[in-house]
Amino acid sequence: MREERILSGISGLDELIGGGFPKGSVTLISGGPGSGKTIFALQMLIRGAERFGEAGLYATLTEDPEDLRLDASSFGWDMRSLERAGRLVLLDLRPSRFWELRSEERSDSFFSWVWKNIRLKAEEIRAKRITIDSLNVLSAQFQDEYQFRRKIMSLIEALHEFSDSISLLVFEQITLERTIEEFLTDGVIVLHYIPVKNGMLRAIQILKMRRTEHSENFHPLRITSEGIRINPKESVTFF
Ligand SMILES: Nc1ncnc2c1ncn2[C@@H]1O[C@H](COP(=O)(O)OP(=O)(O)OP(=O)(O)O)[C@@H](O)[C@H]1O
Ligand SMILES: [Mg+2]
Repeated sequence: MREERILSGISGLDELIGGGFPKGSVTLISGGPGSGKTIFALQMLIRGAERFGEAGLYATLTEDPEDLRLDASSFGWDMRSLERAGRLVLLDLRPSRFWELRSEERSDSFFSWVWKNIRLKAEEIRAKRITIDSLNVLSAQFQDEYQFRRKIMSLIEALHEFSDSISLLVFEQITLERTIEEFLTDGVIVLHYIPVKNGMLRAIQILKMRRTEHSENFHPLRITSEGIRINPKESVTFF
């Protein structure tokens, strides 16, 4: 039986991943600074809400929500109106917010506070797309690798329970080496932003997508005034 898919809403992407993201899947969106991770995630949520009427939840652990609305408005996307219509929720879960809480309002840890807030809001709005930007802020809470792996696995398991939805975990790629996070999720999409002879080159790579026949090429990606565009017909080489 063919698995049910959720369309990304990003031009050119669904063709690379067998027609969309498998329902219930958790995908890492990985890349270096400025590679387009935040725009990618915002675009998927906004398109999902606008075109398909699917509610989206964006949990920001790094950027101020107001800055995200500004990022979006630079592409002509009006987040406020989607928020007012209840189709998009921006959850401010930056660590500073946790530490501002009075001790009696605080959960036992930052990690459980983040997850509690995401779970409650995702259930309330029946979110079809859930984004956490970024996973690194959660990972940074654990010094011990075993604890860290256990916690990230439990987070992914909990996200799998939203079996009608998809989750995107933004991941700030610090080194070119493989990391534990990439082994744990169902999918890994890498946004490359690489210096070439006369500037920078953007490309997208589907590193893995479980239960899916996917492209193994690097495809050109552009950030235009209308957002991210991917050319599934072309491939680039830069190594
Ligand atoms: N309106 C726009 N039009 C064209 N390109 C844009 C526009 N807004 C942003 N960009 C490009 O996108 C880049 C930022 O993308 P984004 O914020 O998604 O990166 P990121 O991978 O989330 O970075 P970080 O790891 O620093 O959070 C900018 O540096 C710029 O090159
Ligand atoms: Mg970002």
